[in-house]
Amino acid sequence: MNRQGDYGAGAGAGGGGYAYGEKSSAAAKSNRKWWWIGGGVILLIAVIAVIAGVVVSRNNSKSGGNGGLAGVVNGDKNDPSKFTKDPRFHQSFWGMCYTPLDSQYPACGDTLDSVIEDIQIFSQLTKRLRLYGSDCNIAEYVLHAINVTKVDMTVWLTAWLPQPADDPDGSTYQRQVKNVQDAIRKWGVDHIEGVAVGNEYLLNGGSEASLIQHMADMRTALAGMNLSKTVPVGTGDAGSKITETLAAGSDFIQANNHPWFGGVPVEQSGGWVWDYTANNEPATAKQAPNNPKLYVAEVGWPSGANETRFMTEGAGGVAVAGVPNVQILLDTYVCQANTNLTNSDATFDGYMWFEGLAEPWKDALYGGVEAYWGLFDKNKKLLDGLTIPDCTSP
Ligand SMILES: *[C@@H]1O[C@H](CO)[C@@H](O)[C@H](O)[C@H]1NC(C)=O
Ligand SMILES: *[C@@H]1O[C@H](CO)[C@@H](O)[C@H](O)[C@H]1NC(C)=O
Ligand SMILES: *[C@@H]1O[C@H](CO)[C@@H](O)[C@H](O)[C@H]1NC(C)=O
Ligand SMILES: *[C@@H]1O[C@H](CO)[C@@H](O)[C@H](O)[C@H]1NC(C)=O
Repeated sequence: MNRQGDYGAGAGAGGGGYAYGEKSSAAAKSNRKWWWIGGGVILLIAVIAVIAGVVVSRNNSKSGGNGGLAGVVNGDKNDPSKFTKDPRFHQSFWGMCYTPLDSQYPACGDTLDSVIEDIQIFSQLTKRLRLYGSDCNIAEYVLHAINVTKVDMTVWLTAWLPQPADDPDGSTYQRQVKNVQDAIRKWGVDHIEGVAVGNEYLLNGGSEASLIQHMADMRTALAGMNLSKTVPVGTGDAGSKITETLAAGSDFIQANNHPWFGGVPVEQSGGWVWDYTANNEPATAKQAPNNPKLYVAEVGWPSGANETRFMTEGAGGVAVAGVPNVQILLDTYVCQANTNLTNSDATFDGYMWFEGLAEPWKDALYGGVEAYWGLFDKNKKLLDGLTIPDCTSP
C-alpha cells in the first residue's frame, strides 16, 4: 500500500482495490469492485493532483523548511556517527518500512542530511530497512547515511515498477534500475539484503509473468556488475497475491499482510498475521523449489484518517484507527513475533513494521488512512502516546 516515488505510477493505483487477508467473501468482492470503479475517478483526480502537487511541492518541498531535516537528533555536525541516543527507543523491530520525506519524483525535496537524521533515529529501532523506490536519490542517500553514521544496518533497495499503462516506454522503471545500480557502484553491497522489483504490482493489476521477467532482468543487470556477493532479487505484494509460481521467480517474497485491510479487530491482529501467513497464499512461497525467503513486509496499524468516516474498516467497523490501537498492535505483535521468529515452527523469516515515518503527500493523493501509518510524524516526532516495545529483535 505504499506507492513510492513516482506520482504518475502512484496515480494508476487508484484509491483502493486492496485484496488483503480476509477480503475474499462475496461482500468484500463487490466492495472491491466498487473500489476499482472508484479507482478510475480517482485516477482522473490524481492526474490533476499530480500537476497541482508538483507546482505546490516545487515551492514547498522542504518540510520544516530545511530539506526535511527536523533537528530532532543531537550530535556532532562534522561526524554523523556521533549522536545522542534516545532513551525511549529500543532496537525491537525486526525490520522497518521507510520512505524519506519529500522523496516523490520529480519534486524531490529530500536531502542527504535529512536521511542521515532518519538513519540515526531508525537505527535505534531496527537493524533493517525496506525502501519502496530509488527516485530522488533515496537509495544513494540511505547507503551513504549508513556509511557515515557507521550504524549496524542493512536495507532492501527497491526499483519501483509502475503499471505498463503508467510507464509505456519503460523509462520510469529504467531510471529506477539505474539509480539502484549507481548507488551500489558507489557504496557496494555490504549493507544490502536484497533488491526488490516493485511493490504491489500484482495487486494493482500487473501480470505475474511480466513481474517475473523484470526480476530475471534485474538479476542479469546485477550479475553484470561484478559485485562481491550475489544480491537476492525479489518482490513485494499483497499477501493474497503470492503464488508458488511468483515465488519460484523470486529470491525473496515481501508479503504485505495487513490486518487493518483484512478488517480484523486490533486485539486479534497480531495472531492474525501469524495465522494468515502460515495458512494462506503467503505460505505457498515456501513450496517453491528455490526456497525463497518469506517476509511479512508490512505489518502495522493506522493512527488516523483524513476524515472520521475512514477511521474504521471491515464488517461492522471492527478495525478502528487511532494511536491507542497502534500501541495495542505494537504491544501484542513486536516482541512476541521476535520470539516466534527464533522458533523452529516459524513459517516466515522476518517482518517489517509499516512504517517508520508518516507520508503526508499521500493525504492529498489518496486520502483515507494512507498518510497515517508512521510511528513518527512529518516532524520526525514519535507520535504522542506511543511507547516503543522494550525487547531486542533477533
Ligand atoms: C564507507 O565507505 C567506504 C568507501 O566505500 C568504505 O571504505 C568504508 O568501509 C565504509 N564504511 C562503513 C562503516 O561502511
Ligand atoms: C571483479 O572483482 C574482483 C574483486 O572482487 C576483481 O579482482 C576483478 O578485477 C573484477 N573484474 C572486473 C572485470 O571488473
Ligand atoms: C506466535 O506463535 C504462536 C504459535 O506458536 C501463535 O499462536 C501466535 O499468534 C504468534 N504470535 C505472533 C505475534 O506472531
Ligand atoms: C479523504 O479521502 C477520501 C479518499 O479516500 C477523499 O474522497 C476525501 O475527499 C478526503 N477528504 C478530505 C477532507 O480531503
